[in-house]
Parts: sequence; C-alpha cells; structure tokens
Amino acid sequence: MKADWPKHIAIIMDGNGRWAQERGFPRILGHREGARNVKHITTVCTELGIEILSLYAFSAENWTRPSREINLLMKLIKIYAVRERPLFMSHNTQVKVIGDIEKLPKDVRDALQKTVEMTKHNTGLILQLALSYGGRDEIVRAARDLASKAKNGEIEPEEISEDLFSQTLDTAGRNDPDLLIRTSGELRISNYLLWQTAYSEFYFTEKYWPDFKETELLEALDAYAKRKRRFGGVEFHSTSTTK
Ligand code: IPE
Ligand code: IPE
Ligand code: MG
Repeated sequence: MKADWPKHIAIIMDGNGRWAQERGFPRILGHREGARNVKHITTVCTELGIEILSLYAFSAENWTRPSREINLLMKLIKIYAVRERPLFMSHNTQVKVIGDIEKLPKDVRDALQKTVEMTKHNTGLILQLALSYGGRDEIVRAARDLASKAKNGEIEPEEISEDLFSQTLDTAGRNDPDLLIRTSGELRISNYLLWQTAYSEFYFTEKYWPDFKETELLEALDAYAKRKRRFGGVEFHSTSTTK
C-alpha cells in the first residue's frame, strides 16, 4: 500500500435507485447492481491493502421507505451475508456490523451474526457494514450506556472522556475514517459516522454507486494523497527547521 493512501475508507453508497430509474428499471435492480459493486470494491480494497472499508448500506432513516423496497433490501442483505462467506474466508476479510441491528428482521440479523462470528479471526481487510445505522442514534446509545454505568457506580462522570466515549460507540477499537467518499452527487453526510468523521477528508463524485469502479476509487485515492491534513495544527515539513 502507498504510504499516502488512506488506511480507512468510508463510503456512502448512494444513487442505486437513480441508476436503475435512468435505465427504466425498477429501483431494486439498482440495489442488486449496487450489491455486485460492493463485492468489486471490497476485492479492490483487499488487493490494495486497505485496512478498513466502511460501507453505509442501510440508514436508520431508510426505514421510512416503502415497505416493498425495505423488504427487498433486507433480502439482498441476507443473500449477500450468506453468499459471500467463502469469499470473506478466502480473502481473509473480517466482517463487522454497526448500527441498531435489533431493528433488522431476525433472519437477516442471524445471517449477519453468523458471518461476523465466522470471520472474526481473519486478519485482512475489516469490512465494517452500517445497517440500520444512524450517527445520532449511535451517539445516543453510547450516552445511555455511559449514563447507566455512572448510575450503577461503575464509572464516575468525570471519567467520561473522548477516548471512553469512542470506546463506547459501535466502532470501538477501530480507527476513524481517513477518507469519506459519497457517490451520486449529493453533498451531505446523511447521519453517517458523525463522531468518527471529525477529521476525515471528504470526497464527492457524481457517479452513481453501481458505476463507482476501481478507476473511480483510484481517482479518489489520488485526490486524497494530495490533501494536506493538519488536524488543527500547522503543517510540518521534516526538512524545515522551526525557530
Ligand atoms: C443508496 O441508493 C442505497 C440505499 C440507501 C439503501 P438509493 O436507494 O438512496 O438511491 P437514490 O439516491 O434513490 O438514487
Ligand atoms: C444515505 O443515502 C444512506 C445510504 C447510502 C445507505 P440516502 O439516499 O438514504 O440519503 P439521503 O436521503 O439522500 O440524504
Ligand atoms: Mg439515495
């Protein structure tokens, strides 16, 4: 992996519906094509040696969609979780799920949990799937968790630090995204990883998710490599001397 490439890439995979509608297909065909692209981009990330790939697959707010679309999406998620198990194993991929997964239908949740369990000792790419995920919801669940620990006397309120808070989120133990990509031309975060993207670099592309292929990913990585990340500090040049 190139030194100036991101270790953790997060993607808001948007535009499946429009991809299909522009071709005169039902929206679900766009989701099917989107799922196919998940496999492609995951494979590319594995080959590039990316450490974490986070994918926004279904948001907390997506539950407001028509039930027909939700049901078909849930079916697709289950099929994906089961069908790709051999690939996850052969690519040494660790699958993780973030979000309020209690809201998922039981059969979908069970299939995902089995995949997570099966891949937990793999040491390659971490594939972090956001399902029934909302950034605010994740923060509220963490706050509730810490509040009940404080009430039980397990922690003192003063012990609640940024670090402890991070460790209470669904993403505990995993680094924050270096690069956040959103496809389909929308310029918003739509409640994804609100806490974790505090210092991520953002990259937006007009391409719909099913059309975001290896070439487009490499363009995003090149753009990232040209960014100067300062984290609120001043740029440091190893060759310059500070007086
Ligand atoms: C993203 O595609 C996938 C999900 C949100 C599940 P959309 O379904 O949002 O596609 P558009 O934005 O309507 O084109
Ligand atoms: C964000 O896309 C969620 C996912 C990609 C899963 P949406 O299509 O739901 O976002 P909005 O509604 O355009 O903000
Ligand atoms: Mg959308």
